[in-house]
Amino acid sequence: MSTFDPGFLWGAATSSYQIEGAVAEDGRGPSVWDTFAATPGAVRGGDTGAVAADHYHRFPEDIALMAQLGLRAYRFSLAWSRIQPTGSGPVNQRGLDFYRRLTDTLLDHGIQPWPTLYHWDLPQPLEDAGGWPVRDTAERFAEYAALTHEALGDRITHWTTLNEPWCSAFLGYATGRHAPGRREPAAAVRAAHHLLLAHGLAAEAIRDDDSHVGITLNLTHVTPLTTEPADLDAARRIDGMQNRLFLDPLLRGAYPDDVLDDLREVTDTGHIQDGDLKRIGAPLDHLGINYYAPMLVAGSTAPVQSAYVGSPLVRVADGGRPKTAMGWEIDERGLLDLLLRLKADYPAVPLYITENGAAFDDVVEQDGVAGAVRGAVRGAVRQVVHDADRIAYLDGHLRSCARAIGQGVPLKGYFVWSLLDNFEWSFGYGPRFGIVHVDYATQRRTLKDSAHWYAEVIRCGGL
Ligand code: FCB
Repeated sequence: MSTFDPGFLWGAATSSYQIEGAVAEDGRGPSVWDTFAATPGAVRGGDTGAVAADHYHRFPEDIALMAQLGLRAYRFSLAWSRIQPTGSGPVNQRGLDFYRRLTDTLLDHGIQPWPTLYHWDLPQPLEDAGGWPVRDTAERFAEYAALTHEALGDRITHWTTLNEPWCSAFLGYATGRHAPGRREPAAAVRAAHHLLLAHGLAAEAIRDDDSHVGITLNLTHVTPLTTEPADLDAARRIDGMQNRLFLDPLLRGAYPDDVLDDLREVTDTGHIQDGDLKRIGAPLDHLGINYYAPMLVAGSTAPVQSAYVGSPLVRVADGGRPKTAMGWEIDERGLLDLLLRLKADYPAVPLYITENGAAFDDVVEQDGVAGAVRGAVRGAVRQVVHDADRIAYLDGHLRSCARAIGQGVPLKGYFVWSLLDNFEWSFGYGPRFGIVHVDYATQRRTLKDSAHWYAEVIRCGGL
């Protein structure tokens, strides 16, 4: 049996645009994701977050589910354009009040609110003014962080500035697969730095005796396909762009030289100003890690277009393992290797897995089918989802967490992605990551087997 410390923080995660809906309510302004999703061809099936899981209206019911599962913490994100509809200027009280109610309801149920200030939904007017490639966006973010902290700091102790700045920068501005959909590699490089600067400035603005401030990165374990020089260089480059470009400035106060050289193949680095790295590298109270899959990489003889700007001769190889519905390889060993590498290479900081989970092709069945789990909505037909593949995925990754802790990694909590099925960005509503199934036509929630399993893990404090 793998057991976890009694104080281990068991949670589940979501983000604003993926679940809230109510995009035009209570004064919310448009974000880049509203604009992007409305662009023909940008999102599979033309899906948008306009309604999503309707969490904006159904949060009391969703929090009751969280309480039923025994969650100790709930990671959600705040929609900047609810709080500042145009990304600057005075607060929109009604937007703020939504998060106040959400937070209070969580606290009433003994669930710790774990908000992220930015999960990709940049207010559209800030994108119109240049977006993350422009330095001023970092200043605006710090202002928004300060206003929000001032309003909610009496009930929230743990703050996360950004979710996955790699995605914001390179999927948003290099491949264009995410909002705002730009394909300008040089702009993506500037965006990455301004996102880090935004973190640093916001952390400065909100850190006080009662507030813990961190950031969440999407990190992975990178392995070369062979020991051939081209494959070794591919692994160095991808590890550089995906992991070290963010970890080094945050935890060591400097960009790695080899990564700067790679970036200079795309653009000059004149946007990095004196003093920036000192702010970015101010001590973190916690580091959030989103982990889904490892990466096996190789050199390529023909140019490959990818988010890894400056590395056209690098390709991602197939490790031959089973895959999730996203096509991501399942390998919990990669999470253990990643955690051990963080311990070996970087100064110690409390770590939290802020996302880990998997999409599978779930099948909703009516109760009475062999082995059905009891307990759906009273008076309605009981529904079940036997997602054994998701349970196996979560079980394996939690075992890696337990092993890492056993080897001295300061891992303090784990948030499953996701609490609810939701809008999976450019993939729309197709992939289902939730431990709770959402019927988008009726908004009915059904606990999948994985939700019952996770509740049991939390209750026992282990596997
Ligand atoms: C992460 C995102 C999250 C979700 C998962 C599957 O990159 O942070 O919003 O889409 O992937």
